Amino acid sequence: MNILVIGSGGREHSILKKLSESKKVSRLYCLPGNAGTSELAENIGSQFMAQDKLIEFVKNNSIDLTVIGPEQPLIEGYADRFIKEGLNVFGPESKAAVIEGSKAFSKDLMHKYNIPTANYKNFTDYDQAKEYLSKQTVPIVIKVSGIAAGKGAIVCLTREEAEKTLKSMMVDKEFGEAGDEVVIEEFLTGEEASIFAVSDGNYYKILPTAQDHKAIFDGDKGPNTGGMGSYSPAPIINDELMEDIQKSIIAPTFDAMKSENRTYKGVLFVGLMITGEGPKVIEYNCRFGDPETQVILPKYDGDLAELLMEAATSKFTGNEILPAKNEHYLCLVLASGGYPSSYVKGYTIDGLDRRDENTSVIHAGTKVENEKIVTSGGRVLGIVSRGNTLKEAKERSYNFADQIKFKDKYCRNDIGDKGINRYDNK
Ligand SMILES: Nc1ncnc2c1ncn2[C@@H]1O[C@H](COP(=O)(O)OP(=O)(O)O)[C@@H](O)[C@H]1O
Ligand SMILES: [Mg+2]
Repeated sequence: MNILVIGSGGREHSILKKLSESKKVSRLYCLPGNAGTSELAENIGSQFMAQDKLIEFVKNNSIDLTVIGPEQPLIEGYADRFIKEGLNVFGPESKAAVIEGSKAFSKDLMHKYNIPTANYKNFTDYDQAKEYLSKQTVPIVIKVSGIAAGKGAIVCLTREEAEKTLKSMMVDKEFGEAGDEVVIEEFLTGEEASIFAVSDGNYYKILPTAQDHKAIFDGDKGPNTGGMGSYSPAPIINDELMEDIQKSIIAPTFDAMKSENRTYKGVLFVGLMITGEGPKVIEYNCRFGDPETQVILPKYDGDLAELLMEAATSKFTGNEILPAKNEHYLCLVLASGGYPSSYVKGYTIDGLDRRDENTSVIHAGTKVENEKIVTSGGRVLGIVSRGNTLKEAKERSYNFADQIKFKDKYCRNDIGDKGINRYDNK
């Protein structure tokens, strides 16, 4: 198989790494990729992102499968075009990708089909939203309905903060069109976990679970980021809970999408809050998570090329929990100082030539400049380690990360601790 992966982050580097381990794969391409993907695949220029050029490239280079990494092209309908051309694509059509593209849609879907989630109300009118908000208690969560790179959901602890947030979204349009509609929802308490279910349109297969760390500072403090680290498996999800999640959330969600004539093919990422009343959906994403992919794919004990191709061509024969390795995996994100606000790019990265059988370096915001690898994004690298315990995986990633140097390098110090504490207290 020749496979093209669209995207340029750690997620795409991880997908390519797993694909490169498959005996079924002959050539790999990445559009546009980063310095890490260029070691496994041929990076092709971003001029091929235009749909006509992309389709021409896929046909001319006998690409058997295209994997669309990020949400934006899925929501814009890239998969639809591939399907129209009779080409194999992994990723949902736009009418199914709306499950991420519109939080208002996904909340209404869950409400209609009795899928557990926080109580909520959607608004397109500022005055009505303000009026509703004045009758709610804090903390409360306000989200722009459209996509906002993981920055459009705000947990408001005070009434003042809630009012300010609502105004910034609906009046000042801080998130642009994404804030044309907002969701105001009940604040849930519990621990978060991520589930990834690959669907071929008829059946689903569940990949290993993960937990991520969204906030920029230790102890989950400070503003949310794209994700500062992750680990797999998520110890909070035992077999019994997984059974419940399948019955009350995964199966009903795929069924609901089918009933709405929005059959879902691709990977559905379900962000959960495990509350005292059981698991509830925080949100859906229409693609793999970043940095969860960095840990769930090495944890998955199977052939990714085969899995994605079978999903794209509807070859599943039943629902299943996919096999997983016994080890624990942890990803520590090294970011540019200043992220998620402003930061400087273009710093040389040293220490990348080191090799270790238990650790791999996944590139996110990197590029090659004058034959050197330099920083080119907020999240720069993911240091992914395996261990017999989560603690061992954590130690390996932190030790390895010490050797990697670039100016203003920043990381959290507590990636994995929540999970380690859970094991320690068992
Ligand atoms: N109802 C809620 N109760 C408590 N925390 C929430 C709630 N909704 C969202 N959050 C927090 O905000 C984060 C981001 O929200 P989410 O809906 O996943 O939006 P996005 O990922 O698009 O920014 C979640 O990971 C969670 O930590
Ligand atoms: Mg989220």
